[in-house]
Amino acid sequence: MISYLWAQDLHGVIGKDNRIPWRLPGELQYFKETTMGHPIVMGRKTYDSLPKKPLPGRQNIILTRDQDFKAEDCLVFHSKETLLAWIENQGGEVFVIGGAEIFRLLMDEVDRLYVTKIQEAFKGDVYFPDIDWSQWKLLSSKRKRKDEKNPHDYDIQVYERNEKQRIH
Ligand SMILES: NC(=O)c1ccc[n+]([C@@H]2O[C@H](COP(=O)([O-])OP(=O)(O)OC[C@H]3O[C@@H](n4cnc5c(N)ncnc54)[C@H](OP(=O)(O)O)[C@@H]3O)[C@@H](O)[C@H]2O)c1
Repeated sequence: MISYLWAQDLHGVIGKDNRIPWRLPGELQYFKETTMGHPIVMGRKTYDSLPKKPLPGRQNIILTRDQDFKAEDCLVFHSKETLLAWIENQGGEVFVIGGAEIFRLLMDEVDRLYVTKIQEAFKGDVYFPDIDWSQWKLLSSKRKRKDEKNPHDYDIQVYERNEKQRIH
């Protein structure tokens, strides 16, 4: 099963200058707890935005067209097809963690969405791609209020694809 997990602002901004435009430790903690033990899939640019080592406790998978690309302890795929073939053999939940290019690439395949909606607007240059929300059913929504560590209100939501529109 393929799930997306991301955080966006009020207008869908997810990145700026190849980094995340906000600091929200509560969201990072949620990301860690939710993805721990599961494979995580990311685009090469998102990998470049992280410290140059895999996120621990998870099989890190990077998508790039660069045949010479190497990253220690990571699995590297060069096409959507080889990635999907690998995922097919997993059985469990695989988390796609961005960025926008990879979210766009797998939009027809994703089964579940874990989205953090930050209740503020940020400057950005990368947006979550267009999505037809009518195809998705809200499973849960939790409002988190800003506090001394987290300077913004945010909602943590989980969606599942409507049965009728399930593609596979
Ligand atoms: N807010 C969030 O939750 C969140 C999450 C993740 C990322 N981000 C932000 O999003 C931004 C990065 O997103 P992005 O859209 O610019 O880049 P990206 O999706 O992280 O990576 C794009 C790269 O993936 C590779 N790729 C794409 N399609 C491919 C295909 N079909 N086959 C093989 N490789 C393929 C290419 O790598 P090569 O160029 O090496 O060929 C491409 O340049 C950053 O600002 C980051 O901080 C935000």
